This record gives sequence, C-alpha cells and structure tokens, in this order.
Amino acid sequence: MADKNVKTFQFVIVGGGIAGVTCVEQLSSQIPSADVALITAGPHIKAVANYKQVSRALEEFDVEERPSSVLEEKFPNLTVIHSPVKSLDTESHSLETTDGQVFGYEKLCICSGGRPKLLTQDNPYVLGIRDTDSAQEFQKRLSKARRIVVVGNGGIALELVYEVEGCEVIWAVKDKAIGNTFFDAGAAQFLIPSLEASKPEVAAPCKRPRYTTEDRAAGSLHTFTADRHSRVHDAGPQESGSALGPDWHEGIVLRGAEQVSRRVSVEYHCEVEKIFTSEELLNSPVKSDCGSWPVCILLTNGKTFGCDFVVSATGVVPNTEPFLHGNTFAVADDGGLRVDDHMRTSESDVYAAGDVCTACWEHSPLWQQMRLWTQARQMGWYAGRCMAAHVLSEKIELDFCFELFSHITKFFNYKVVLLGKFNGQGLGSEHELLVRCTKGQEYVKVVLSNGRMVGAVLIGETDLEETFENLILNQMDLTPYGEDLLNPNIDIEDYFD
Ligand SMILES: Cc1cc2nc3c(=O)[nH]c(=O)nc-3n(C[C@H](O)[C@H](O)[C@H](O)COP(=O)(O)OP(=O)(O)OC[C@H]3O[C@@H](n4cnc5c(N)ncnc54)[C@H](O)[C@@H]3O)c2cc1C
Ligand SMILES: *[C@@H]1O[C@H](CO)[C@@H](O)[C@H](O)[C@H]1NC(C)=O
Repeated sequence: MADKNVKTFQFVIVGGGIAGVTCVEQLSSQIPSADVALITAGPHIKAVANYKQVSRALEEFDVEERPSSVLEEKFPNLTVIHSPVKSLDTESHSLETTDGQVFGYEKLCICSGGRPKLLTQDNPYVLGIRDTDSAQEFQKRLSKARRIVVVGNGGIALELVYEVEGCEVIWAVKDKAIGNTFFDAGAAQFLIPSLEASKPEVAAPCKRPRYTTEDRAAGSLHTFTADRHSRVHDAGPQESGSALGPDWHEGIVLRGAEQVSRRVSVEYHCEVEKIFTSEELLNSPVKSDCGSWPVCILLTNGKTFGCDFVVSATGVVPNTEPFLHGNTFAVADDGGLRVDDHMRTSESDVYAAGDVCTACWEHSPLWQQMRLWTQARQMGWYAGRCMAAHVLSEKIELDFCFELFSHITKFFNYKVVLLGKFNGQGLGSEHELLVRCTKGQEYVKVVLSNGRMVGAVLIGETDLEETFENLILNQMDLTPYGEDLLNPNIDIEDYFD
C-alpha cells in the first residue's frame, strides 16, 4: 500500500448503514471544512427520516434507502466511494477497496454492520434476511411456497411469522417461549393469540396475572392465573447492503402459494439438528417423513419437517473480516470490535459504531447493547462527535442516550416499549415483577430492584412510557406505593408528575 498518490482524507467512514451515515452527517455538520469520505459496498445509503424524540430517552424514526448523491449534495466536502473495503493497514493508516483504490485516513470509523448467521453455508434452501436483496429473494421464493420453516427467536423471526400469509409456517425456537430476546414468558403468552387470530380479538376485562418464572433462563411460564394483585419474586456475506429495519416487510407482500391466512405452529425448545440435501435424502430413512418436499429439516426434538425452504433468523455476525487481517483489534466474544466509552477500538485512530462493534465500557446499570436501529444511530452520532472532539482537542463525556436502554417497536401489530433491564437482565434473583394484563389489549410489566424501578415492558397503548421512564431515571423508592403502581383505577401520572 505504499502508493505515493494515495488520497488521504481527514475522516473515513466505512459503511452506508444508519451508523455510518449518521456518523458522516455529524462530522460533516460539526466540521464543515473537514475532508470526509464514506466508503460503502452497496449503491444506496440508509438515512434517518421523520426523527421524533418521544420522551427524554425514547426516539422513533423511519429509515429510508436513498441514493448517496443526496448526501454529497448536502455536504460538498464529502466524497462517497462505492466499493467494498478489502483490507485495512492500521499502521500506515490506509485502506484498500476491492477495485484496487487505496485511501489514507487520519481518523477512521468502521460501521460495516453485520450479516445473518446462517445455519449452513451454501445450501440453496436456506435463506437469511438481512438487506433489501435478500428480502426480495425471500418474497419471490415465498410466492411459490406452501410450507416454510423459520428458525430463530429474535425480532426478525417474530415479524416474519406474523406477516407471512398463504403459507404454512413451522417456527422453531430454541427457548420455551417465543420472542425470548425481547420478552419473558408472560409477554409471549399475551402475544400468542395474535398468531392464531386473523383479526384482532375483542378486549377481555383486566386481569392481573400472577406468575412466577422459576426457569427464567428458558423463559418458561409456570402459573398464569387471574389475580388482582401480583408481586412475585423472579428467580431467575461481506459485500452486502445495509440491514433492513423496522417495517422492512412494508411494501413487500409476504404471501405464499396457498389460500390460507396465517397458519403458524411453534416448535419450542429445539434447534436444528440437520438440514438434509436432496442427495442425502435419497438414501436416508427420514425421506418418508419429508415426502416430496424440496428440503427436509430435522429438529433436536426429534421431529422432521419437509418444506419449500428454511429461513434462518438466528442473529447477526459482525462484519469484521476485511479489517482484522494484519491488525491487532481486540474482538469481543460475540465477534464485534471492542470499543471504549469514546467508541475507540483497540487500534489507534480507529473507531467503530453500530452492529459491527461491541460496547465494552462499563455500562450504566440501566443500559445494555442490543443490535438495533436506535443504537446504530446513537452510536454513529456519538462516534462522530467523539472523532470531532478528539481532533479539536475537546473533552467529551459518554452521552446520555447510553444511560437508559429504550426501544419502541411493533410486534404482532401491538406497540411495544422496552425500558432499562426490561427482562431483569443481569439482576439475578434480586428483583421483583409487577404485572398487569388485559387480554388482547395491553401487557404491562415492571421490574423492581430494591423497591426501585429498573425496567419495564409495555405492550399496547398503555401511555405509561414517559412516567415509567422518569421513575426509572430518578430511581425513586416506590415501596410505599406497593401494587398501586399498576392499579388501573389510579392515575399514577397524578402521583409523580
Ligand atoms: C430483517 C431485519 C429486520 C430488522 N428489524 C429491526 C427493527 O424492527 N428494529 C430495529 O431497531 N432494528 C432492526 N433490525 C436491526 C437493524 O437493522 C440493525 O441494528 C442496524 O441496521 C445496524 O446498522 P449499522 O449501520 O450498524 O449496519 P448496517 O445497516 O448493516 O450497514 C452496514 C453497511 O456497511 C456496508 N459494508 C459492509 N461491509 C463493508 C465493507 N467491507 N466495505 C464497505 N462497506 C461495507 C454495507 O453495505 C452497509 O451499507 C433489523 C435487521 C434486519 C436484518
Ligand atoms: C469545504 O472545505 C473548505 C476547506 O477545505 C471550506 O473552505 C469550505 O467552506 C467547505 N465547504 C462547506 C460547504 O462547508
């Protein structure tokens, strides 16, 4: 890379997803004279639109795919380079793209995102959904499909099984309840009827289920009985485009070949044992179970299913490969580039943000990293501010957005708000749960630790997010309020506002 004509930029950002684009926007508006380059693999970039601050911690926005020229028009000192990065030499502070160009940088931010973890490599019957291309491929395949198997229990799987129509879905989840990444068993129980009903059910009267979740790790539900008061102890491929986000299925009709509406069956507590190829099937005893389906899948619960194809929605692997070779990045257990509280990796002048990085600073007791849109935006924005501050020799402190975990989304057509340690993450047995549930309408769960609210799950139009966010942030002792905290007849806003 010892090319003398290497073009050197003050700032180079790799990746045209939300993290990279937000970082570019922040840097370019904070230091308009800076020479900034955005190097990205795909032809389009992702941009945040209709940004709305819902409360102090909660934010909502849409994500739009745009041609990169929009960014260049807005920031004249920005250069967008469309070619995947092939290698990085941190010593000489330079990068090489696959089309052979070499670029130098003073400060670099890696925002290359992640790619789907696939169950198997190169099986044409196994699909991962990550970007617009893979979503279109999925749609095309689905239109001819009669039965698919969805593997995974995170947000993507949840959306998929709910949205797919006209095709039977076998949903294999490794946990004892659906949506384990976001919910506990109680919330899962609340959502399950949505999968069975094609139309929303009429709201049932308010119940306050008492439940214990002894086997928390597996998220299983032990008792679920109506009870007025509940206070229970709780024991318990590199050159891809950018990731899709909320509403990725909008504008895409997820319809299979059959005339049925939703037909989902959940296989709990199992993983994929084996996916048979057609050659293997020829002389295998499972053939009879699979009939004439193009592909056959064996689950660890011993069941075999034939289907048209398998969708692998089992999480993402950070896109780090092109950057690791020849360098000495500290990499976290989940494969992400470790970053400190200024978004710096272990290599000097190299920052990282979004899905590709792992936040390794000492987290606030109310925050955890999850690979989501909001965090990609927050990290990209904060990384940009840190890079600028370091160049300008200014001091900067960890931003407030990393104080409290917050996420708004929609699952099964319900509004879902998650705050803080919403699933008692990392709290061991040191917490209590308060739950209020109205079938078909709302599910409210509060996590208390030493009488203080540390997390909440709000499903439905509860209108509680702002009050709860304040209660979590101010760590007020709520012991005096007892179960009245969730009493539907008491307007708790009056208490605290
Ligand atoms: C189907 C799906 C649904 C989702 N739904 C939600 C949701 O409802 N809510 C939510 O909050 N989150 C959701 N997510 C997660 C969310 O999309 C990600 O957390 C977020 O997009 C991460 O942004 P990012 O900028 O870090 O990475 P990405 O958006 O993945 O962008 C990475 C960018 O880097 C580029 N790149 C990669 N490698 C290279 C290279 N070597 N050289 C140059 N450029 C490179 C890519 O082209 C891309 O532009 C979903 C994800 C998927 C796949
Ligand atoms: C671009 O950078 C130059 C200096 O490098 C500066 O004079 C100019 O104002 C910048 N353009 C904008 C639009 O800020």
